[in-house]
Amino acid sequence: MIIEIKDLIFASPGSAAVLKNISLSIKKGEKVGVIGSNGSGKSTLVYHLNGLNKPTSGSVAIDGLKIEKSTAETVRRKVGLLFQNPDDMLFMPRIIDDLLFGPLNVGMNRDEALVKAAEFLKMFDIAEFADRPPFTLSQGQRRFAALAAVLMMDPEILVMDEPTSDLDPFHRRKLINLLQKRNETMVTVSHDLDFISDTCERVILLLNGKIQADGKASDILSNRELLENNQMELPLRLQ
Ligand SMILES: Nc1ncnc2c1ncn2[C@@H]1O[C@H](COP(=O)(O)OP(=O)(O)O)[C@@H](O)[C@H]1O
Ligand SMILES: [Mg+2]
Repeated sequence: MIIEIKDLIFASPGSAAVLKNISLSIKKGEKVGVIGSNGSGKSTLVYHLNGLNKPTSGSVAIDGLKIEKSTAETVRRKVGLLFQNPDDMLFMPRIIDDLLFGPLNVGMNRDEALVKAAEFLKMFDIAEFADRPPFTLSQGQRRFAALAAVLMMDPEILVMDEPTSDLDPFHRRKLINLLQKRNETMVTVSHDLDFISDTCERVILLLNGKIQADGKASDILSNRELLENNQMELPLRLQ
């Protein structure tokens, strides 16, 4: 199992637990969607996958490596995390520098990194903005820039939090096509159940910090009763 979560509880002092005893395993190469209504714990859960959140109790292991201080750096190399807000990820004066930052930091040759960055910028239709500061791009373009920066590191596991928010239909489709071609393990949080249906084979449904369902995407996403009992609706194409 490339991801192994055991009895995970996450609570902050003085408030009810946000994640209540979550256990799950994910196989290498699996594409898993995490769905659930606002505040159900989706972001809190996936931010445990690279050590950003630390379990109050229980454990998270990546590729057999339990996440703790001594393994944090190795884990971050394996797990690429696309934040919900791209502005939490872009901090350099130019977009191109954000793409180069990670690879140069781990010793990649600058020319190689530039070639790779150029490919991603072209693929995401943002090549013309390479030398501009992030704030001069639209939110959707910044999201693609942030995703490009994550992919520059060739993560074994790609974790994305609401990757389609702010994408126009054309670029949303473009992202679907791109993800369908990639082989790494993926964990995707989204309210866009049509997107989840196009990109994931397995779905985990959360409510109030607990797993309510875990199974085949086609089963869960077509189960109107299950979705409605958990404050959700069928994907648009099934409505
Ligand atoms: N560090 C924290 N301390 C206290 N409460 C938190 C913390 N992180 C998240 N929460 C709470 O946990 C709940 C789930 O949050 P979140 O995981 O962001 O939900 P989702 O991504 O499913 O919309 C929310 O009620 C949120 O306020
Ligand atoms: Mg969230």
